[in-house]
Amino acid sequence: MKTKKFLERLKVEVDTYMDKLLPPDTVYPSVIHEAMRYSIFAGGKRIRPILLLVCYQATGGKEIEKVMPFACALELIHTYSLIHDDLPVMDNDDLRRGKPTCHKVFGEAIAILAGDGLFSHAYYLMTLTDVNKKRLLEAIKIISNAIGSLGIVGGQTMDIKMKGERPDPKTLRYIHSRKTACFISASCEIGGILAGTSRKKREALRKGGLYLGMAFQIVDDLLDVIGDEKKVGKRLRKDKDKVTYPALYGVNGSRFRAKAYTELAIKNFQKLGEASDKLVEISKYLEQRMF
Ligand code: IPE
Ligand code: IPE
Ligand code: MG
Ligand code: MG
Ligand code: MG
Repeated sequence: MKTKKFLERLKVEVDTYMDKLLPPDTVYPSVIHEAMRYSIFAGGKRIRPILLLVCYQATGGKEIEKVMPFACALELIHTYSLIHDDLPVMDNDDLRRGKPTCHKVFGEAIAILAGDGLFSHAYYLMTLTDVNKKRLLEAIKIISNAIGSLGIVGGQTMDIKMKGERPDPKTLRYIHSRKTACFISASCEIGGILAGTSRKKREALRKGGLYLGMAFQIVDDLLDVIGDEKKVGKRLRKDKDKVTYPALYGVNGSRFRAKAYTELAIKNFQKLGEASDKLVEISKYLEQRMF
């Protein structure tokens, strides 16, 4: 309950900033700003910006408003990836965050453009981050690697290419680490970078985030099998021809692996000492989530 409240509070803060930092939907051409805002504010847990903020604070960062634009940028990038992931040529989904998907409401062309708009605006927001420029440049380097063809785009490519194929452990690990874990890892590491933390702590965040991200995608796969559509806010039982953990290891084997990755994440986060308490709580909470 404590963790849930903590996450809800941070989510509200992130949402308040995003509302200020996104172009109003009255700005010409309004349909694109409506579509961008529609997908952002449809719902969502805001896990990536929250991880950035928590890691920033865990490594001594004191002024979260200075790094808020970067935290919001992560959510814009994440939402762009969801809009494109839902398109008919990708996963073909009609429900996201409890609402009709962007292309169902605005059409495919505007949905593609809304993704593009969020993606570009994210880089604009990064430039508004009020930290030492060397740190900022390092953070931009990390995020760019995590979301391109060496990260999300590479993972999504293999996710699509492997549709209908027999899953093998190596490809499965590749897909999950690239399409999801790299980005979650970068969110954690960037929190440390913006706070100016040591190499050692940065590495603990990077690795902890990678394991947390693996667990996160395994739980996402599990929810497709055992989740409740109302709570998850997406169409479920849709991953049947996809390369997923339940497809290869079954529900119990996947549960076991989500737990093992979560434990590895916690071990790495604990290298920060007492400051890791919140990260440990969040890791456990995400493993048990039903949404
Ligand atoms: C869904 O991400 C896609 C994955 C990478 C698993 P989230 O579960 O973080 O989705 P929202 O942001 O809460 O809607
Ligand atoms: C999506 O994985 C990962 C990205 C969007 C990069 P999924 O396709 O499993 O995500 P959901 O289940 O649609 O949220
Ligand atoms: Mg997908
Ligand atoms: Mg999908
Ligand atoms: Mg999924």
